[in-house]
Amino acid sequence: MKILSIETSCDETAVSVLECSGSTVRVLGNALSSQIDIHAQYGGVFPALAKRAHAEKIIPLLQEALTEAELLYKTESNQPVVSFAEPDEETKQKIQTICEQEPGLAEAIITFGKLYEAPDIDHIAVTTGPGLEPALWVGLNTAKALSVLWQKPIDAINHMEGHVLSAVFQDSSLKEFTLTELPYPLLALLVSGGHTELVLTESPLHYKKIGATRDDAIGEAFDKVARILGLPYPGGPKIAIFAKIAREANIESEIKLPRPMLHSKDYDFSFSGIKTATLYATKDKTLTDSEQKAVAREFEDAVVEVLVKKTAAAIEEFNIQTLVVGGGVAANTYLREQLEIMRTKNFPHLTLSFPAKGLSTDNSVMIAMASYYRQLHGALLQDSPIIRAEGNRSIESENFGLGL
Ligand code: KG4
Ligand code: ZN
Repeated sequence: MKILSIETSCDETAVSVLECSGSTVRVLGNALSSQIDIHAQYGGVFPALAKRAHAEKIIPLLQEALTEAELLYKTESNQPVVSFAEPDEETKQKIQTICEQEPGLAEAIITFGKLYEAPDIDHIAVTTGPGLEPALWVGLNTAKALSVLWQKPIDAINHMEGHVLSAVFQDSSLKEFTLTELPYPLLALLVSGGHTELVLTESPLHYKKIGATRDDAIGEAFDKVARILGLPYPGGPKIAIFAKIAREANIESEIKLPRPMLHSKDYDFSFSGIKTATLYATKDKTLTDSEQKAVAREFEDAVVEVLVKKTAAAIEEFNIQTLVVGGGVAANTYLREQLEIMRTKNFPHLTLSFPAKGLSTDNSVMIAMASYYRQLHGALLQDSPIIRAEGNRSIESENFGLGL
């Protein structure tokens, strides 16, 4: 089975093609464009600009991914024809209506349809939430228009389920992943720019959120503290580098930051206080280079301590057998190290799984993986909430209990 997947929930536009069979998925084509440069000047993602950039990039990325997958044939080529897709007037009209909110997108899709035959894919998987609504619509409307153009079904995928499953498929090579049978109950620690959640999974496809941030997401806190320290967006990777340098050089911070909700008896988090504490502690001061690195270290120490402690408590209470970590902050080396130390010390039976390189931050490979996983576990395409979302402008994203 070949799945074309689309992801536009935040500031990454991504299109992939995966070939899936048994427990193996192979990435045939993968194209991703990051909007970091566009949003850097605002210190965060600016929704209207994100929407415009997605609409501009999505068709060139579709072309790139399908070309890499060797599935794109010009309509006049001598290659075997799967089906000729020159859109008729009715199809063009439907595409215009679907994409009426995204200037230029319908035209780009219609031109694409004139130039290329329908590719040999089985269905289209697209992220329908959670995320920035104007950004999500670009991906969803592109999927709908391609579905009309090529007569292929659509599968609506929850972005957070994608992050969970990015760590359930393990890389056997750079482009090939194997679905590993992980022991249950499974706990997912989802840490990204938009979310901080602990999700309990007792059996495949059943997700229960047991805790979440009450204010800022962890990635957001990394980005905001980086901004306070004068580091550009996205600040997470830069804070991580500074903290590592400080740790290696044994530089301790004189500024001590709080560990919010460390001792609360639930699985919720709060990160806005750490950001405010950093702001006040550094206000009216010109930090030296090494003070800056020390604050980055103190911040990383504080947030990782909270994440690890809450995760450990949940592992204990729910007798967790597998911990998967997903989302952009799962790329953080110090978090990975501390979770591994926690596992070795307290839960040697625990299977600990992280996403492969490039799959922690937003990507469309994980969206195809989630779509395939759902089908393997009997979730039929027809059950997909996209069917219910047809015909109106509200995104049904409560599809897996993870919510917006
Ligand atoms: O999952 P993601 O790509 O997008 C969302 O769905 O939000 O996560 C992006 C977030 C950003 O806040 C970024 O600063 C953070 O992940 N991030 C990191 C690291 N790499 C990315 N945070 C800490 N350490 C990293 N190495
Ligand atoms: Zn994400």
